[in-house]
Amino acid sequence: MKKDKLAINGGTPAVNFPLKPRGHFGEEEQASVLRLFSQAIRSGYAPGYNGKEEDAFCKEFASYLGGGYADGVNSGTNSVFVALHALDLPPFSEVIVGPVTDPGGIMPIVMLNCIPVVADAEPGSFNTGAAQVEACITPRTSAIVIPHIGGAPADIKAIMKVAKKHKLPVVEDCAQAHGASVDGKKVGTFGTYGAFSLMFGKHFCAGGQGGAIFSNTEDLYFKERRAADRGKPFGMDGHTNVRAAINCNMDEFGAAIARAQLKKLPQIIAKRQAFVQMLIRRGIGNLKSITIPKLPKGAEHTYWWWRLELNLENLKVDKFEYCKALAAEGVPINPHYIGALPWKQEWFQNREKKHPWNNPLYKGKVTPVKCPNAEEAINRCFLLMVEESWGAKEADAFYKALAKLDAAFVK
Ligand SMILES: Cc1ncc(COP(=O)(O)O)c(C=O)c1O
Repeated sequence: MKKDKLAINGGTPAVNFPLKPRGHFGEEEQASVLRLFSQAIRSGYAPGYNGKEEDAFCKEFASYLGGGYADGVNSGTNSVFVALHALDLPPFSEVIVGPVTDPGGIMPIVMLNCIPVVADAEPGSFNTGAAQVEACITPRTSAIVIPHIGGAPADIKAIMKVAKKHKLPVVEDCAQAHGASVDGKKVGTFGTYGAFSLMFGKHFCAGGQGGAIFSNTEDLYFKERRAADRGKPFGMDGHTNVRAAINCNMDEFGAAIARAQLKKLPQIIAKRQAFVQMLIRRGIGNLKSITIPKLPKGAEHTYWWWRLELNLENLKVDKFEYCKALAAEGVPINPHYIGALPWKQEWFQNREKKHPWNNPLYKGKVTPVKCPNAEEAINRCFLLMVEESWGAKEADAFYKALAKLDAAFVK
């Protein structure tokens, strides 16, 4: 039938209308910033940092996460950096990190003169798991960084058991997983620190760049604040700056935007989840070309995007051709999340010749990274973009595209 002809072969794309943009910012963010401007003009002084807006944002964010302490910083990369810095890791110790992550989730380890040890993913996942982390523990291990990739929680409860057994601190990298949870408890609250990115592409943001760090105790909170702001003696009386640290502060404008955005976060998540449910109801799980990846027990996905696995054995085409045809149907996808294997990048190559790996104080051996599960998942999966502005019309069109490809490509 003509209407089923693939767009890549000259047919009409299934998504034949412009996709609605996120509508991420509105009058609320504008009003927050204008309020600060008005105050500044009235007072004659520019807004700064560590002020009322950040204080309010941190309380609101901690409360959103279920209670505890939060601090605003200036990027997701620095949220990981500051959390690790607060842990005072011995130089040249090893820090285990999940395999699929942004460079900003692994480079802070190296910036602190520590050695990243990349743990494989659980089979069929982008996230690492308890067994994969435990296999990487050596007497030199000082900490574990667990990214929750794409909004899908890692099996954090099992990982925390391993961490406790080996008395290791955990930094949860929640840059892609705001509001995701396991058994109703939000990610970022299981570990020693939860590190969040609030850059503009995330579920909620603090403007162009931003970040936040969560901790469960006041002691950890003050340690983290000292690590975020040149060692200022937060929580200590009668001291001058107590440790060397850089300035990773969030500013008041960012905090004001983040406050307005945080109010929208539950809706953003609910709408994304509803969109995925619409696709499931239309039958995406019954298509022969696709498997919906499983989540750890009790996990709630918040869909920064939706990772879908291709049943390549059932297909007449390879992943490249499938994704090219799907993109031609107008479905927004990222076919290959290869940039999320930072240990394949140039900076990580020949590392035995580079600092900190080549320092004689590092007592381990630099060996090739082996993450067959992560590579397999990257090679079999594509990322379906999900936005909170999409509804039934988009779900119909996306499903139609996927069904067309199923009809055309399944053996
Ligand atoms: C898992 C992960 N960690 C860290 C970062 C770094 O965050 P930022 O870009 O805000 O520095 C990102 C950014 O997307 C990320 O996805």
